[in-house]
Amino acid sequence: MPKKANSLFFIILCILIIGTNNSLAQVKINIDDNWKFTLGHAADASKDFNYSIATIFSKTGAAPGTAIDPTFNDSNWQSITIPHDWAVALPFKNHPDYNVEAHGYKPIGGNYPTNSIGWYRKKFNVAPADSGNRFQLQFDGIFRNASIWVNGFFIGTNASGYIGKTYDVTDVVNYQTENTITIRVDATQYEGWFYEGAGIYRHVWLLKTNNIFIPQGGVFVHANVQGKNATVTTQTTIENKNNLPTTCNIQTTVTTRDGKLVAQTKATAITILNNSNITVNNNLVVNNVQLWQIENPYLYRVVTTIKQNNKIIALQKERFGIRTIKFDAENGFFLNNKPLKILGTNNHQDHAGLGSALPNYLQYYRIQQLKNMGSNAYRTSHHAPTPELLDACDSLGMLVMDEQRLLNSSDEYIDQFTRLIKRDRNHASIFMWSIGNEEGWVHTQSNGKRIAQTLIALQQKLDPTRTCTYAADVANVFNGVNEVIPIRGFNYRQFAVADYHKSHPTQPIIGTEMGSTVTTRGVYKTDSINAYLPDQDITAPWWASTAETWWKLCAENKYWQGGFIWTGFDYRGEPTPFKWPNISSHFGVMDACGYPKNIYYYYQSWWTNKDVLHISPHWTWKPKQQDSLIEVWVNSNAQQVELFLNQKSLGQKNMPPNGHLQWAVPYQPGTLEAVGIKNGKKIIAKVVTTTEPFEIIITPSKTFLTADNEDAVVLNITVLDSLKRKVPNANNLINFTINNNATIIGVGNGDPSCHQPDKCENNNWQRSLFNGKCQVIIQGNYNVGNIVFKAFAIGLTPATVTIKAIKE
Ligand code: GAL
Repeated sequence: MPKKANSLFFIILCILIIGTNNSLAQVKINIDDNWKFTLGHAADASKDFNYSIATIFSKTGAAPGTAIDPTFNDSNWQSITIPHDWAVALPFKNHPDYNVEAHGYKPIGGNYPTNSIGWYRKKFNVAPADSGNRFQLQFDGIFRNASIWVNGFFIGTNASGYIGKTYDVTDVVNYQTENTITIRVDATQYEGWFYEGAGIYRHVWLLKTNNIFIPQGGVFVHANVQGKNATVTTQTTIENKNNLPTTCNIQTTVTTRDGKLVAQTKATAITILNNSNITVNNNLVVNNVQLWQIENPYLYRVVTTIKQNNKIIALQKERFGIRTIKFDAENGFFLNNKPLKILGTNNHQDHAGLGSALPNYLQYYRIQQLKNMGSNAYRTSHHAPTPELLDACDSLGMLVMDEQRLLNSSDEYIDQFTRLIKRDRNHASIFMWSIGNEEGWVHTQSNGKRIAQTLIALQQKLDPTRTCTYAADVANVFNGVNEVIPIRGFNYRQFAVADYHKSHPTQPIIGTEMGSTVTTRGVYKTDSINAYLPDQDITAPWWASTAETWWKLCAENKYWQGGFIWTGFDYRGEPTPFKWPNISSHFGVMDACGYPKNIYYYYQSWWTNKDVLHISPHWTWKPKQQDSLIEVWVNSNAQQVELFLNQKSLGQKNMPPNGHLQWAVPYQPGTLEAVGIKNGKKIIAKVVTTTEPFEIIITPSKTFLTADNEDAVVLNITVLDSLKRKVPNANNLINFTINNNATIIGVGNGDPSCHQPDKCENNNWQRSLFNGKCQVIIQGNYNVGNIVFKAFAIGLTPATVTIKAIKE
């Protein structure tokens, strides 16, 4: 762009962003930086800034003697950046309370009043020129029960730890002096039976608008495909907070992803009554559409422009996809009129080293790992996801089942479900909603059925373009929720699916939770002391099944729409079948860092067309194991596989469809090689006996990072022997340093029984390898330049990587 045009562009941008009275496009300002945090106390007011003994709710705009008071001095509180999860930094604690165990042995809850209340404060300024505009604060997710004050005024409480909330704070904003947000987060109660984190673990935004504005979720866009073309329907709600009826012009535009105009309405004048709103409906025709597909997730934009006196006062851009979805009870699911088996995973939201506070980049990293396995669908078990997860699924091509936390039709949960649907319904990736999971007290009863009917009706009213399911852990049972649910969800009980289908042939069936196979990465025998299980598809709790059991049924019967594995990644909490020292679950096809376990290759064999040939276990056993029989598993989609030990054939076998192959091999050090024939083509895989660890190797997920205090890089660490072969069972303690262009934000190794800290104190970052691997996550700051990361350990050649921190 020439210099002059550049500065003109800048001036226009400033007018749009900063704005003057009544001439402002809607802007969303991220306010994640510069927060203060400290723990309070759930049972002792003197350690909770006098919260339960001060006068807080009897007079408006002041709470003297508390941290709510804007003049309160928080200089000795910790400085933090959002997203923030205080639970992940707590030490592990073996406590008999079931909830502590279920939440990953983090000492939070009723027995730990000192760890369960968090206080946050943040200052921000608003330019005097902006008075006359409107201001809202948007919190995408706080765990949980967050009460919020601005400048001493109570703004509201959001009970949900998952679905966010937006508050209008216009009337209490200061223009001449600074503003103070104070939040008291009460994480004493739980919402789930898995690790949930604590604190402001999702983004915070300041929304600046004119008095005429589009509220959150105010644009609903969907498309109806006819042949090569589509009709795009938009439903736009516009609020008028002026004290007089106001006339403005609205125009809706559809563009390609690179901004090319493809359809546009006429600018239409509308008059909105004072303190009222109006909904404008439009149909726009888009020709020769590019469909949103799993392999090519094409996203259009809908741009809504509102003008007053020829000035833009609101400009909102939303991404959406054009695609069709259909559930057929006999023939399965169809995306864009083509059959597509749902190859899904269930997931909670925590990642190694980070707890539930994930930088956006990690959402893309995790979704990509699942896609590499061949997965095409994600169930947000059992709660509203973070918006960036849905953005990642839209962009990368991953269908989503979006789930409501609780099967409940009280005002509170109707409000939560409404917020969820209105927030998420424009996401192309969402193909269905879920109204709940395993509500054993009510789901076969008439009250469960009535609650379900209310939630289903609400879903159909707010989003008639999709349908919903409910995840039921009952076998051939129809009474209750299943009588009214459009898509019957099966949690386990895969053996009952065929009979259920026979009795209810018109109700489509989906496996909402399947498998639940428990495996520990790189471990080959049960170890009840360390709470490890063999890394093969053999161990499942009583309610669950192996991968091969459920997948064969699903693959071979068209009426199964598909299924969701429990789970894609290991997650903290719900240790099964062992308890302490096990602090994480083992259900994942990947560990908590996203390192594949052997079962990953089973799914990859049957869920992709890639050439998959994977041998397990490794081939580095102790000399005393010489000649002992080792069960060798081969996962592959080759039709025949021949196995060789030190070049001697151990026989060729035919691969059963949706199965695996096994050989019992007497151990001899050397090379175990598999040769597969896939459609006439030869594919080869090897495992070799390695020697001692010699050098560290760092594999970064990318070599650049945006210096915006948000982007992140995942550094995968392993060790090689002196012949440059990965040592599969290395457990060296590795230390890490980084220069001041970035920060280490967490370390992990996928060991479900590891009690080393995820957040190391005093910059003393370190982690042991677990079966040859550990992981470090780094985040840039605002400095551009080289980020130099080093990994070193006693007796090993150290490693260094350089990542470039760049401007956007
Ligand atoms: C299901 C439940 C999941 C998880 C899983 C473990 O019953 O819905 O949240 O607990 O079992 O197998």
